[in-house]
Amino acid sequence: MAHVSSLIAEDIEQYLHAHERKSLLRFITCGSVDDGKSTLIGRMLYESKMLFEDQLAALEADSRKVGTQGGELDFALLVDGLTAEREQGITIDVAYRFFSTDTRKFIVADTPGHEQYTRNMVTGASTAEVAVILIDARRGMLTQTRRHSYLVSLLGIRKVVLAINKLDLMDYSHDVFAGIEADYRRFAGQIGINDIVCIPMSALRGDNITERSANTPWYEGPTLMGYLETVEIDADAHSGPMRMPVQWVNRPNLDFRGFSGRIVGGTVRPGDRVRVLPAGTESTVARIATYDGDLAEAIAGQSVTLTLTGEVDASRGDVLVTAGEPPGVADQFEATVIWMSEEPMLPGRPYLLKIGARTVGATLAAPKYQVDVNTMEHEPARQLHLNEIGVCNLNLDQTVVFEPYSQNRELGGFILIDRISNNTIAAGLLHFALRRSQNIHWQATEVDKLARARLKGHRPAVVWFTGLSGSGKSTIANLVEKKLHALGRHTYMLDGDNVRHGLNKDLGFTEADRVENIRRVAEVAHLMADAGLITLVSFISPFRAERRMARELVGAGEFCEVFVDTPLSVAEQRDPKGLYRKARAGELKNFTGIDSPYEPPEHAEIRIDTARLRADEAAETVVTQLRVMGILDSP
Ligand code: ADX
Repeated sequence: MAHVSSLIAEDIEQYLHAHERKSLLRFITCGSVDDGKSTLIGRMLYESKMLFEDQLAALEADSRKVGTQGGELDFALLVDGLTAEREQGITIDVAYRFFSTDTRKFIVADTPGHEQYTRNMVTGASTAEVAVILIDARRGMLTQTRRHSYLVSLLGIRKVVLAINKLDLMDYSHDVFAGIEADYRRFAGQIGINDIVCIPMSALRGDNITERSANTPWYEGPTLMGYLETVEIDADAHSGPMRMPVQWVNRPNLDFRGFSGRIVGGTVRPGDRVRVLPAGTESTVARIATYDGDLAEAIAGQSVTLTLTGEVDASRGDVLVTAGEPPGVADQFEATVIWMSEEPMLPGRPYLLKIGARTVGATLAAPKYQVDVNTMEHEPARQLHLNEIGVCNLNLDQTVVFEPYSQNRELGGFILIDRISNNTIAAGLLHFALRRSQNIHWQATEVDKLARARLKGHRPAVVWFTGLSGSGKSTIANLVEKKLHALGRHTYMLDGDNVRHGLNKDLGFTEADRVENIRRVAEVAHLMADAGLITLVSFISPFRAERRMARELVGAGEFCEVFVDTPLSVAEQRDPKGLYRKARAGELKNFTGIDSPYEPPEHAEIRIDTARLRADEAAETVVTQLRVMGILDSP
């Protein structure tokens, strides 16, 4: 590599040591190719001498051949060339580039600038400490400048460099520069960005990138590299109380038991009193162990292993914190959610939420509002689509240790994961815990489910029939209920059409409404099983995610999924309610199987092929299965 340091040749050990001890700054560049972003990044790589000789030779050749800069180096070619290489198969499109100077190491997150790429920017910005926002001096502040700044502020970046680029094309005019600076400061103040450095530059000509430019004698601030090399980082992170999510419990032998993880806030020293959350047990730090021996102190950003005095129980996902200043523990929150999936957010659908080292089940309520990232205005919304940002309440199935994102990015930031595809579908920032979750407790009852079941002489269960409209669910469920009744078993039937006349009469047939329809009926079925009944549920229930939620809510051994597998063509031919005909005629929207999807079960306890089995035989199959599961026996 064409690297500067002569130390490499003279004393490689010392070079590596010096390199290791340099601080690391992560920053993000925001702007579009038109603003000169590629040229800027290319020049920074070039001027910090982070190019291999062969890259440099290729750049010179390409610049001559296809460059747009006359005989000179066209830095945009360099970065765009790297971009093309990485374009295959990446959904979230962020390029991280590494370079270093004599005083610091840098990781720059480079994200595409166009509107659709909110999710890329969010990914790049979530770990950055500084944002470099590019402006084309000829065009001044644009909508995209506002959008980038809003996202930067939302994601907790407090330091902004406003790179007023292409000033060479405006004759290095101080007035142009000062006008843009004033506009930007006025706007940025409204969204909480106050630490701003505006730099007049031309990435193309190299003005004020590493060298102070003679073309801007009126400018007294730092060059871009000068700023990036000296800006203070992480100052507040070390001063607050200590937080360390436990990544794993390190137990090489019986004599050593350490808790390993990265410190995400504060400073820790042997002798400090710590608390293990959520359990709340306290202990004292005995040692801070690392590969190179014990430390007297560790600060935010370092990965360490802590040993504690006494036998303390903690496992992956717990958080070690300063005893006197614990963060919150809760299971309901208000949060900002940034949707990153092509599949829209569905209120009530069960997702997985990952925060720190913990993963728990989560559902979102309908958004309170969505934010227009161009104008920062709040707008009503019922769900969120790709790249939309909204504020909603969040419900977890277990408590988590947290801090508001504005105080701690690691303990306040989360991602949502789709339970079926395992894809990351959203990023989020916790605002605060909802009071109500702290004020509602479980009330113990003395007559429990088992006692009720004993009185009835059989076990409770939920028998969940799913299938297309007209597949024969209700017919079979009816026969099952009659047979169970004749056997002296206590039953109740929840039928889609019937429940939609009462409890769910406010719901239609959009995806969101169906999710809510099934959520409610799953809760009701759960209560009925708790009451001791064999509950028959007959709903189309077209989505795997909600059927799975029902299964998990009811619990193993008490849930029996019956897939009434009638092909669409057969159900349509039967058309008992004339609804398929209406749907085909376009008089009925969102009809399952026609213009709304049905996801067949993959692991149903029973699959009924109605082309082969009569309804009566099908019902007998279900009763036999319940017998095998032990449901018909006395507990
Ligand atoms: S679900 O999809 O939300 O589970 P549910 O079982 O409650 O549906 O209701 C289905 C019943 O509503 C069907 O049997 C049919 O009689 C009626 N229905 C009316 N409109 C539709 C529609 N667009 N799609 C499916 N069923 C509909």
